[in-house]
This record gives sequence, C-alpha cells and structure tokens, in this order.
Amino acid sequence: MKILGISGSPRAKGNTDILVQEALKAASEMGAKTEFIALSGKKIKPCNGCGTCRTESSKGICAIKDDDLPRIYEVMKEADGIIVGSPVYFLSVTAQLKALFDRSIILRYAKGMPVDRPGIPGGPEFLLKNKIGGAIAVGGGRDGGQLFTINSILQWMLLQNMIVVGNNYGMGGSAKAGTKGDALNDEIGLTMAQHVGLRVAEVAGKFRK
Ligand SMILES: Cc1cc2nc3c(=O)[nH]c(=O)nc-3n(C[C@H](O)[C@H](O)[C@H](O)COP(=O)(O)O)c2cc1C
Repeated sequence: MKILGISGSPRAKGNTDILVQEALKAASEMGAKTEFIALSGKKIKPCNGCGTCRTESSKGICAIKDDDLPRIYEVMKEADGIIVGSPVYFLSVTAQLKALFDRSIILRYAKGMPVDRPGIPGGPEFLLKNKIGGAIAVGGGRDGGQLFTINSILQWMLLQNMIVVGNNYGMGGSAKAGTKGDALNDEIGLTMAQHVGLRVAEVAGKFRK
C-alpha cells in the first residue's frame, strides 16, 4: 500500500509541509509506504485550455510538457491513497495546487473523453478512480477558510472518482498557523492531520490487501 502526500504550498518547509508529513508519518505507522511531494520550487504551468487533451488523436496527452506536473501525475497514478494539503489562500487552495487540479483533467481523458463512452460513467478512463483521498488545510486565521479549502480539495477528488475520507473530527485536517513552522505549536491541528493519514491508510488497506 502506497500513500502519497502532496503539499500545495509555494513556501518550502512551511506549515503545510509539516502537516502533510505528519499525516504520512501516521500512515506509515499503519504499514503504508509513503512518498512526499512539495510543490514549492517546482515548475508548474496552469492549464491554458488549448483542448489538445480532448482530441481523439492525443487522448489525454497534455500539450504542456516542459514542467514538473507530468512526473507528479506518474507518482499519483502509482499511489493507493493521496493526501493533499494546502495553505488557505483567500479562502481557497494555492494557485500551484489549482493548476495541478486543472491539468489533472488528462487523468480523466486517458482513454478518450467520458462523453465518447456513453453508458460507462466513471469508466476506466479515470486513472485516479478508487484511490483513497484525504485533505488538510492550514490558515493564519482561526476560521480563515480551512473548511472551504478542504472542501475544494475533496471536490476535486470526487471529480476524479476517488473515494474521500475525513477524520475523527470532521472533513479533514484543519490547522491554524501563520509564520513558518507555527503548525508545530497547533497540537489539535497536528492531531487532525495525523487522523487524516490514519483514515487514508485504513481505508486504502481494506481495498488493497
Ligand atoms: C496570498 C496569501 C493569502 C492568504 N489567505 C489566507 C486566508 O484567506 N485565510 C487564512 O486563514 N490565511 C491566509 N493566509 C495565511 C496562510 O494560509 C498561512 O500563513 C499558512 O500557514 C501558510 O502555510 P505554509 O507555511 O505551508 O505556506 C494567506 C497567505 C498568503 C501568502
């Protein structure tokens, strides 16, 4: 069982990195192999809507090839569970994470557009289908939009036909931290992140023994 953690923060070794790694630590205690990917320092271009991925000839191939997303998608395809964390940026995910979400449309088109295959909703063209997903958000405010951000992440997972889990507290890991490293002082936030790791590993383990 392999669990991948993705931190959507552009700030290296910041609060999101800490919380996602905390979740991965908990998952590894459940027997999972884990991998961590930080989007900070990565070259990530946004979707430009060119439509190449929708054409019959290219089938799920993105026209943008000169950045880091294609390699990240390969790692995502290999994982049984994916934990995605983001700092709250204006009540939502970061631009880097949104670009990863938008460009991941190719993971739905790999065998042609779903509309090309009527009667097979959620067919095998969804390459993230049935992977287990959990979400973590950290904001500087106590009620700074963590839940909106968790919701954005879980909604992306649902559109990828993933199976989402929450934790013992709610819909995901929610932490309050502002300056770099501050998350280490948010005991409840750390515990909530750990619980996301435990739930993702628990459910992934039931699916893939
Ligand atoms: C552009 C920007 C927008 C932000 N918007 C919010 C916000 O809407 N709500 C909030 O609680 N915190 C907001 N913050 C604070 C960050 O979410 C917070 O500092 C977080 O801990 C950063 O995580 P990181 O260390 O992983 O980068 C914002 C920070 C930046 C840079």
